[in-house]
Amino acid sequence: MEFSTTTARPEAHKADAIAVGVWAEGKLTPAAAALDKASKGALAATVKSGDMSGKRGTVVTLRGLAGVATQRVVLVGLGGSEDFGDRAYADAVRTAARACPGIGDLAVAATEWTVAGRDAGWQACQFAIAARETVFRSDELKSKKEDGNGPKRAVLLAGKGGDRDGDVQRGLKTGTAIANGMALTKRLGNLPPNICTPSFLGDEAKKLAKQWKLGCEVLETKQLEALKMKSFLNVAKGSALPPRLIVLKHSGGGKSAPVVLVGKGLTFDSGGISIKPAAAMDEMKYDMCGAASVIGTMRAVAELKLKLNVVAVVGACENMPSGTATKPGDIVTSMSGQTIEVLNTDAEGRLVLCDLLTYVERFKPAAVVDIATLTGACVIALGNVNSGLFSNTDGLAAELLAASRAASDAAWHMPLGDEYQEQLKSNFADIANIGTPSNAGAVTAACFLARFTKAYPWAHLDIAGTAWKSGAAKGATGRPVPLLSQFLIQRAG
Ligand code: BES
Ligand code: MN
Ligand code: ZN
Repeated sequence: MEFSTTTARPEAHKADAIAVGVWAEGKLTPAAAALDKASKGALAATVKSGDMSGKRGTVVTLRGLAGVATQRVVLVGLGGSEDFGDRAYADAVRTAARACPGIGDLAVAATEWTVAGRDAGWQACQFAIAARETVFRSDELKSKKEDGNGPKRAVLLAGKGGDRDGDVQRGLKTGTAIANGMALTKRLGNLPPNICTPSFLGDEAKKLAKQWKLGCEVLETKQLEALKMKSFLNVAKGSALPPRLIVLKHSGGGKSAPVVLVGKGLTFDSGGISIKPAAAMDEMKYDMCGAASVIGTMRAVAELKLKLNVVAVVGACENMPSGTATKPGDIVTSMSGQTIEVLNTDAEGRLVLCDLLTYVERFKPAAVVDIATLTGACVIALGNVNSGLFSNTDGLAAELLAASRAASDAAWHMPLGDEYQEQLKSNFADIANIGTPSNAGAVTAACFLARFTKAYPWAHLDIAGTAWKSGAAKGATGRPVPLLSQFLIQRAG
C-alpha cells in the first residue's frame, strides 16, 4: 500500500472512496460535515435514520452523493471523542481500510480524529502502520492467494491546517518504513520452521543487505568455534541444521559508536532434552521473532536513512533433542569464560544470547538492546500487552520507555538485582541457566544476561508475549519493530 497526503477539500477530492468519521451520538467530524453540506444533508439523514450511530467499530457506505466528487463515502463510527485513544484511532483507520477491499485509492480524513496528547505526525505515522496491517497476508504457502483486505493506495487528508510544516508527510514516511519493517518481521515469524531455518535467515539477511546497501556477514560453525562460542554451539548441536551468526550494519553515523541490536533466532524451540509438551508446540517456530524484529528494524532504519550507526547481530539455530544434544547437567564454557551449568535445556535462549552479548563488545557499542522471546514467565507477568524491559542503565531504560510511548508499542520496566541473582547459583559452575526457585522467571533470565553485559549500557526486551498472537488471529505481530525504530529515530536526533 502506498501513502500520500493532500490539502484538497473532502467534497472536491476525487478518489475511489473517501472515509470520514462520525463521533458518538451522530456528531459529524468537520470533513463529514463538509460532505453533508455538499450533498445537501445526505450524511445527517443517515445519522437521523439510525443507520450510523457513531458507535465505535461501526461503518456504513453511501454511494453517488450529489455534490461529492468521490462516488463512495464511508462513514466510520469513532465512538466518544473524550475516550478516543491510541487504540481507538488505529481501529478506526483499520475499519475504514477494511470497508474498501481491493479498491484503488482510499482517501481518509483521519487527521481530524484527534487523540489527546498526539500530534499530526503521530497520526500520520500510525495511519500508515494501521492501514498497512489490513493488506498483510500470509499466503506464500497457500495454493490459492487470498483477496486484498484493504485499498491499494491511501491518501490522508491533511485537514484544516494543511500540512504547512510537513509533519504529515514526514509521519507517513516514517510509518511506511516501520510498516515495511513489520511486514518483513511478520513474514519471517509466520514462515514454518522447515523453511525458515538458520541458513534461510542468513540468506534473507544477505538479500536485505543487497537491496538496502547494508553491510552483512554470516558466520558458520567453524567461525563460531574459532570465537569459542561454546554456549551458543551447545544449543545448536542437538539439531541436524548448522547454526548461523548474522551481522547486519547500517552506517549512517560517521565514526560514532553504534547502537547494537541483538536478536534471539531460535527457528524452532522443542525444549531439547528438557522437551516441551506437545500442545501448541508448533508455535515455537516464533522463537526467532527477536531476530525477525531486529532484521525488520534494520529494513526500516535503511529506508529512513537514519544518521546513526546501527549493528544487528542475530544468533540463529534450532533447539532439538537428539543423541548429540546438550544434557541437563552439562557444563559449558561461554565465550566470556564464565562456565554455565545447563540445568534445563529449554532455557536455551539465554545460552545463545550470552555469547552474542560477549561478541558485540568488539563494536564498542554506545548501547546494546537484545530482543528475545525469552520466557513463558514474562507472558504470565505481562500477558500480550507489554514487552518486558530490563536494563543496567536507567537512562537507556527511560529512552526505550519514551520510544515505547511515542510509538504506541507498550513496554513495562521490570527489575534486576542481586537478590534475584542469588537464584542463579550453581554448586558446580559459575552460574546455572535457570533460577532456583523458579519464581520471577523473566527476571532471573534477564539477570543471567546481565552477567554478560558489564562492558556497555544494555537493555533487554522480553517479547515472548508481544511478538505473537495465539487463537483465531494466530501469527506474528511485528512488535517491537515500532518501539525499536522509534528508539533509533530518537538516537539519530
Ligand atoms: N522460547 C521459550 C520461551 C517462550 C515460552 C516463548 C512461551 C514464548 C512462549 C524459552 O526458550 C523457554 O522455553 N523458556 C523456559 C525457561 C524455563 C525452562 C526456565 C520457559 O519459559 O518455560
Ligand atoms: Mn526454550
Ligand atoms: Zn526459546
